[in-house]
Amino acid sequence: VSSPAGSLVCIGFMGAGKSTAARSAAAALGAEAIDVDHVLEAEIGRPIAAYFETEGEAAFRELEERVTLEQLASPASAVLSLGGGAIGSERVRAALAAHRVVWVDVDLDTAWARASGSDRPLARDRDRFARLYAEREPVYESLADVVVPARRSERMGPVIEALDGVPSGIRVLWATSAGGDYPAYIGPSLLRDRFWPGAVQGRRFLVSDGHVARRYGELLEPLAGRVSVMPGEQSKTIAHAEIVWTELVRAGLTRADVVIALGGGVVGDLAGFCAATYQRGVRYVQAPTTLVAQVDSAYGGKTGVDLPEAKNYVGVYHQPVAVIADTETLATLPREELAAGYAEVVKTALIAGGALWERVRSGGEPTDPELISACALAKLRIVARDERDGGIRQALNLGHTVGHAIETVTGYARYRHGEAVGLGLLAALRLSGQDELRDEVAELLRSSGLPTSLEGTNPHEIVLATERDKKRLGEGPVPFVLLDAPGAVRTGCPVSQPEVAAAVRELAR
Ligand SMILES: NC(=O)c1ccc[n+]([C@@H]2O[C@H](COP(=O)([O-])OP(=O)(O)OC[C@H]3O[C@@H](n4cnc5c(N)ncnc54)[C@H](O)[C@@H]3O)[C@@H](O)[C@H]2O)c1
Repeated sequence: VSSPAGSLVCIGFMGAGKSTAARSAAAALGAEAIDVDHVLEAEIGRPIAAYFETEGEAAFRELEERVTLEQLASPASAVLSLGGGAIGSERVRAALAAHRVVWVDVDLDTAWARASGSDRPLARDRDRFARLYAEREPVYESLADVVVPARRSERMGPVIEALDGVPSGIRVLWATSAGGDYPAYIGPSLLRDRFWPGAVQGRRFLVSDGHVARRYGELLEPLAGRVSVMPGEQSKTIAHAEIVWTELVRAGLTRADVVIALGGGVVGDLAGFCAATYQRGVRYVQAPTTLVAQVDSAYGGKTGVDLPEAKNYVGVYHQPVAVIADTETLATLPREELAAGYAEVVKTALIAGGALWERVRSGGEPTDPELISACALAKLRIVARDERDGGIRQALNLGHTVGHAIETVTGYARYRHGEAVGLGLLAALRLSGQDELRDEVAELLRSSGLPTSLEGTNPHEIVLATERDKKRLGEGPVPFVLLDAPGAVRTGCPVSQPEVAAAVRELAR
């Protein structure tokens, strides 16, 4: 992640809308947008496709490198859009470090739909196009300071506003969903630097747990109010929500103010739920301080509490106005909590597949801000398509049907959420017939200190508890999320009770 100085440079795959994003960003900045492809075409006096055809790709890349480097070095280039393949050049990649790089992130299908009908020489064969996409995607990701979904390329104004004052070394993911857009800031020292984005106007009311408030609460001062609950899953109840609501009324929270949920997933879910329902909805910020929360729970707007009978059974969708994920806070996280977060990292990597899975299976450091932001991006891409769990978002529940059942049956006390998810993943992989992958995942979990077998619980009760899974409709079968391979998830899969029982019994052996 590079420094915010220099030009704003839009990169991305064919058909992402880089030029559109650059024009929209330039309009917001009162600057001119320069499309490097147009500069190139003016220089060669013919369309790029024609040059590519007659001179070949190598000659084109050489020319593209020179022109791109010239533009990146020019002080007149306030907002640039680069050709999709320009980042193939090592010199261009190095030059980008002096600029703020905006990756316009497009999914493969949209890119193909937009590019295949054009004269683009690299968009004629779908398989080749897909291979190129898979090759370039991790390069764009590694260069990006800011990630904007392609569907927002025409509306860069709010994104530009959200970049105001962002410290260097911070990655910004632009989250979008039916319920609203917001920036997620991920990186070190955000709390110590007292970074507050423009979206967080108004008096701040802190909701946290005792551990976290003691360690980090002061960094949020000045605060108009503070509410603290006991640390742990047992605080994620409607009774605790009432305590939070009441304390917030007493502290004088109004709709002009903003709630700051500082802590792990428990605080995020509880405070988010209280913010969603207090006076029918006030703004809130997710300031996640655990790995679970920084890779997963802080994004996507699912808020709620548990019932003794079933996990996350009462809640609402309410998107935060911003996520501020200070990765430095993970330094004080106990080892067991880090391990619990690692289970969500593995889950996300299994769902996303591709470069993320390769990174995780080859031992990627889970507290690396780049890995955290890669997980967050994987989740946000899914939420952008399906905020309310109608379809693809259910993929995020991989391992959760059995995981949640384990948590419920053990009274939310014996296993951390992440530990239960790790066990649930093993069951889901067995049910998917992915025996080798199950062994590999078990080894990853074991080596980070996570349990791979159940102790002191009755498997039969767990099987019964899976039947209260929220995805179940009427008296139909409990729909499972299964995996054909990393990156290939199937949702809504019926699985017979004896099969579920066998997968759970195996864990209890
Ligand atoms: N809303 C969602 O989309 C979503 C997604 C995944 C998980 N969740 C929920 O998240 C919850 C689990 O979250 P969690 O694992 O973060 O647990 P948690 O919130 O209970 O935090 C774990 C422990 O770590 C402590 N802690 C937090 N940050 C710390 C820090 N920086 N240094 C030292 N100690 C710190 C806390 O005080 C707590 O004791 C579950 O309830 C789960 O259902 C929600």
